[in-house]
Amino acid sequence: MADPYERSAEFVDVMIAPHWAALGPPLADALSGNPGPIVDVGAGGGLGTRVIARSTADARIVAVEPSPALRSVLLARVNDDPGLRDRVTVLPEGILDAALPERLGAVVAMNVIGHFGPDERHRIWALLAARLLPGGRAVLNLQPPGEPVAVPESRFADVRVGRRRYEGWGRAEPAGRDRIAWHMTYRTYHDGRLVGELEVGYAWWVLSEQRLREELGAHGLGLDRTGPAELGMYLIGRKDM
Ligand SMILES: C[S@@+](CC[C@H](N)C(=O)[O-])C[C@H]1O[C@@H](n2cnc3c(N)ncnc32)[C@H](O)[C@@H]1O
Repeated sequence: MADPYERSAEFVDVMIAPHWAALGPPLADALSGNPGPIVDVGAGGGLGTRVIARSTADARIVAVEPSPALRSVLLARVNDDPGLRDRVTVLPEGILDAALPERLGAVVAMNVIGHFGPDERHRIWALLAARLLPGGRAVLNLQPPGEPVAVPESRFADVRVGRRRYEGWGRAEPAGRDRIAWHMTYRTYHDGRLVGELEVGYAWWVLSEQRLREELGAHGLGLDRTGPAELGMYLIGRKDM
């Protein structure tokens, strides 16, 4: 499988960090008291993994991350923190190929669901229905757009580290019935002077709340919104619980 983050991993973790300031508290609330095990789907550099660990007392965590570049950040972050090192296992496969615990307290899928098309989502929902413990839940977010429409270019990140400033820009265009193509540009400035520019593109499956609800319903799962509305976060659990 091609790694869409192979060239951009250097920027992804630092640029997603400010978003975790907002995503962290509602995720922590959603997981409070969860006994685990907890799977972090597409853990990236592990900013969400760290929230999961801090919001649960001693739940075992499985952080699944297929991108070798981002997994390097993840493994270093886990290794660097004794509170993570003893509890977090990093797996390099995709979520549908990873050897996961038979029973799960929670599954976290933040900023990742657009990597999965309808067939893969169907398999993920089946996995939740089969493995979530009683009272278990999944937490995910839906990122706009929910329909295959164009997204005009905008700056989504502006981060300063030392004398360098890193800007992330993105735009998207429709690329099929349920897909968009993202075009990202990462610019590096040193003392205000542009010294680097990287362009990468990747495909993203769009998913609306209504379609998510229908897909989950077919597996006996339901969803509720959680956290501030603008974050698009949802709790998923069995309807019969
Ligand atoms: C935008 S990043 C989000 C990372 C992290 N969840 C966060 O919010 O900081 C999307 C992640 O999904 C991962 N991913 C892509 N396909 C995957 C798959 N089949 N199984 C698990 N993770 C996958 C990517 O490698 C990437 O790390």
